[in-house]
Amino acid sequence: MRKLRVKSSAGGYDVIVGRGAWQALRRMKAYSSTFVLTEPGLWDRWGARFSRAGVLIGTRPVLVPAGEGSKSLVWAGKVASELLERGADRRSLLIAFGGGVVGDLGGFVASTYMRGIDYVQAPTTILAQVDSSMGGKTAVNIGAMKNLVGTICAPRMVVSDPRVLASMTPRAFRSGLYEVVKHGILSGPGLFGWLEKIVPGLRATNAALLERLVLRAARVKVDVVSRDEREAALRHVLNLGHTFGHAIEEATGYRRFLHGEAVAWGLLLVTRLAELAGVLDPATGKRISRLVRAVGPVPGLAGVRAERVLELLTRDKKAIGGKVLWILPERIGKVRVTSDVPAEAVARAFQEVQSGEWNG
Ligand SMILES: NC(=O)c1ccc[n+]([C@@H]2O[C@H](COP(=O)([O-])OP(=O)(O)OC[C@H]3O[C@@H](n4cnc5c(N)ncnc54)[C@H](O)[C@@H]3O)[C@@H](O)[C@H]2O)c1
Ligand SMILES: [Zn+2]
Repeated sequence: MRKLRVKSSAGGYDVIVGRGAWQALRRMKAYSSTFVLTEPGLWDRWGARFSRAGVLIGTRPVLVPAGEGSKSLVWAGKVASELLERGADRRSLLIAFGGGVVGDLGGFVASTYMRGIDYVQAPTTILAQVDSSMGGKTAVNIGAMKNLVGTICAPRMVVSDPRVLASMTPRAFRSGLYEVVKHGILSGPGLFGWLEKIVPGLRATNAALLERLVLRAARVKVDVVSRDEREAALRHVLNLGHTFGHAIEEATGYRRFLHGEAVAWGLLLVTRLAELAGVLDPATGKRISRLVRAVGPVPGLAGVRAERVLELLTRDKKAIGGKVLWILPERIGKVRVTSDVPAEAVARAFQEVQSGEWNG
């Protein structure tokens, strides 16, 4: 078990990673009451073990349905009402036990309930363990607009036990790994080279290896958010692969791809784009595309309309005055943040990757 430390204006917090990490919840003592926010299936599978580790026995969880639909103001209201009904006060603690959905919703409720109570993230998906549980960004969706309303509010602690990943479906597991690949590209040859070695044989049940993977990938996020809490320049780099990724998700109505799968396409597309823009050499481009593909199969891009994707790109939240802010890989461990990319190169990258003409 290892500990990372996030620096934050609110004083910083520990990220505990490893088998047995949930036991660190025992330290959270000075509260009038403790509540766990989670999903029914997840609680059925892991609740007993989680409660035992954190000495929360007898805790009746606050439940929300699985899925992105729970990240809404309606569900935030229902959770707050239930907390009130069950006697939560300003000195209560909320533990978000789930993936990014429960984490974002739990953080949002905690940061606003009675003007803010403490909360802990206990992430249960790869994406949540290496990314969303750290940094204190909380949000709910409004209609089709993802994360429109949210807060920045650091958790008191993050506890990630990789054993919980064993119950993920193979597809969801792979989807999270694409985000880890992203962290590898951002981090440098050390993590990237290690991923090249282990990814092909990686299983959701290999807790010892996952413990190292989550630790190394989480450290990338910790380093970025510790340096830049409010997402000025630096946090942009975490959007590598996400500009195309978000557009693809939206163009397909959030139905064809899991988030990480859209990011996988986004990473391939931005790699080709970086080559076309002359900032990335093809040999490195090949390494990146090989690692993305080594994670496993992704639903294809067939039938996704290029014009629609290109149009959605300019509506990205990071676009300024219709100019897309691109995060281009320059080499392993270095990206370039620029809006100076010709539209023709963007269109060509999409056409080549979609048609399979370019595959690294
Ligand atoms: N706050 C941030 O900085 C940040 C960063 C990235 C993403 N996000 C948000 O995270 C969300 C996506 O997170 P996610 O990918 O974890 O999705 P998720 O929370 O919906 O989890 C994915 C699926 O896995 C299930 N699940 C969770 N843990 C499981 C386990 N251990 N075993 C089996 N099934 C399990 C869930 O029920 C769900 O069906 C999005 O809403 C996104 O906006 C937030
Ligand atoms: Zn992502």
